[in-house]
Amino acid sequence: MASSTPVPRLENKVAIVTGGARGIGECIVRLFVKHGAKVVIADVRDDLGELVCQDLGDKSVSFIHCDVTLESDIENVVNTTVTRHGKLDIMVNNAGIIDEPKLSILENEKLDFERVISVNLTGVFLGTKHAARVMIPKCNGSIVTIASVASITGGITSHAYTSSKHGVVGLTKIAAAELGRNQIRVNCVSPYVIPTAMAHKIFHIEDSSGVHSNLTGKSLEPQDIASATLFLASDEFGYISGHNLVVDGGYSVLNPVFGLFSVKN
Ligand SMILES: NC(=O)c1ccc[n+]([C@@H]2O[C@H](COP(=O)([O-])OP(=O)(O)OC[C@H]3O[C@@H](n4cnc5c(N)ncnc54)[C@H](O)[C@@H]3O)[C@@H](O)[C@H]2O)c1
Repeated sequence: MASSTPVPRLENKVAIVTGGARGIGECIVRLFVKHGAKVVIADVRDDLGELVCQDLGDKSVSFIHCDVTLESDIENVVNTTVTRHGKLDIMVNNAGIIDEPKLSILENEKLDFERVISVNLTGVFLGTKHAARVMIPKCNGSIVTIASVASITGGITSHAYTSSKHGVVGLTKIAAAELGRNQIRVNCVSPYVIPTAMAHKIFHIEDSSGVHSNLTGKSLEPQDIASATLFLASDEFGYISGHNLVVDGGYSVLNPVFGLFSVKN
């Protein structure tokens, strides 16, 4: 008889998920736990993080307060995870913020630009650095950063957000080039629009119904990103490194205003 329980793909693995208290990160946490991993949620939202742990009611998941922009917080979450579970196999740099797009660069303030860069790019640098610190001696590890389609296209999100997401792809490449000698893989997942709290703030959407999809009748859900992250995190596809896995249903390969399949207004 067919069973609905998946074959565990992360048994004996230890993972940290930054920004795991809600949205895409929470979905990654739930999928990783389902696949047998011990997961530490690192987030600034203690209330939501604790709620996810309570709801899962599983000893495999725990919460540590962590602001990814602070090196001491990242250092603490990595060290506490290793003390608690003996090692770190998987680092998911998922925490991110977005700002309201201002159409002219002249309206963009330095302070706002730096705030986004600080979470989305510096936070990923710190997460990658401290994960590598404990992974290098073990010659093992997988680091996955949640980027965005804004990492490969302009004109969707703000100047700061677009720059931060292009930046993490560069960081992924240099880290993959360096850490390959220690058998550590470093990759990105780049989602299209998903109706989380973040997307609601900017695109004012409650669900995917109003979002253009190149895959007619289908919309992107947090589960799709969790599955792509699991794919890159698990050992099954252990030769993939330095990759930016775009999960956009083909959105970024189509020019909707010109060509055979142009969208007519
Ligand atoms: N939702 C989308 O449409 C979309 C599309 C492409 C990429 N992404 C990316 O996916 C990731 C998750 O986004 P989401 O939609 O789930 O957003 P979300 O706002 O629902 O969740 C983000 C999480 O990050 C946490 N966080 C924010 N700042 C933090 C900090 N300084 N330190 C630690 N944690 C912090 C928040 O508390 C929250 O739990 C982000 O990196 C985002 O850029 C989202």
